Amino acid sequence: MKTSILIVGTGNMGSSLTKGLLRSEFAKDISISIFDLHKDKVAALANSFDVNPLQNLSCDRRTEDVIILCIKPQDLAVVSSDLSGKISDQTLIISILAGITTDDVAEQFVFAGPIVRTMPNIAAMVGTAATAMCHNRACQEAHKLLAEKIFSSIGEASWIHESLMDAVTGLSGSGPAYIYMVIEALTDGGVKMGIPRDLSLKLSTQTVLGSALLVKSTNTHPAILRDQVTTPGGTTINAIHELESHGLRAMLISAVATATEKSRELREKRQSQKKS
Ligand SMILES: NC(=O)c1ccc[n+]([C@@H]2O[C@H](COP(=O)([O-])OP(=O)(O)OC[C@H]3O[C@@H](n4cnc5c(N)ncnc54)[C@H](OP(=O)(O)O)[C@@H]3O)[C@@H](O)[C@H]2O)c1
Repeated sequence: MKTSILIVGTGNMGSSLTKGLLRSEFAKDISISIFDLHKDKVAALANSFDVNPLQNLSCDRRTEDVIILCIKPQDLAVVSSDLSGKISDQTLIISILAGITTDDVAEQFVFAGPIVRTMPNIAAMVGTAATAMCHNRACQEAHKLLAEKIFSSIGEASWIHESLMDAVTGLSGSGPAYIYMVIEALTDGGVKMGIPRDLSLKLSTQTVLGSALLVKSTNTHPAILRDQVTTPGGTTINAIHELESHGLRAMLISAVATATEKSRELREKRQSQKKS
């Protein structure tokens, strides 16, 4: 029997997950239903992929094995009330909502079953997301395996303790924005030195991609790889000196710490608003 998955919200992340799942090896074992308030988004996916487009969430959804919430945090109350009383306590609820805890989901859905909270990133759109996942106590091995299969279809997925979710938001959730700034700045550096902009962007992008791939594929610490390309008295060590004197590493460490704090602050504010 196929695993039935309902994806609620087919924006950037929901559509990436739908496509990733249906392109993965897991595709033959699943059936996917999708729902979004925007019928055009649902229709666009249904035209190209083998999914079951839903007109609304009014029917009983007790047969769903998994429900993946891909809506914005502020829409959780509406979706949970739409689904309230219509799901089984055996269904695995997966949330990708930033700042929403497994307890928040349980409370909103009045649900005592398995819940997995995840933080993917925008690279899900090209199947290379970095996703961190945590789970509540009701999750069993089979639920965890299911979540791993789902998020492996859009990149790499790792389990963490829920207390680290704000830090993950600051690192890999917001991280693509930091790297876009690096690519942009490297491109401007090339342009300053006379390289045409389109070629400079191409070289910068491929440099970031290739460098990351080398760390990953060789499983070598980046400091070792950096030393390997740093000839004594050469060009690279001069550039490294410049980067160090402007505090590149300290800046990036602070960026992750600041984004983590902001994530924590927003979560705590939301929770205190809920209580008052
Ligand atoms: N984008 C990222 O890089 C990223 C990374 C990690 C986690 N996340 C999380 O992923 C979630 C989705 O982000 P996204 O970028 O995919 O957002 P998005 O593109 O805005 O997609 C959300 C979709 O859900 C629809 N929606 C709203 N209320 C609904 C309802 N009651 N029933 C069904 N569909 C509804 C939205 O319609 P409307 O546009 O009309 O509201 C929209 O089409 C967020 O909670 C975010 O925290 C995003």
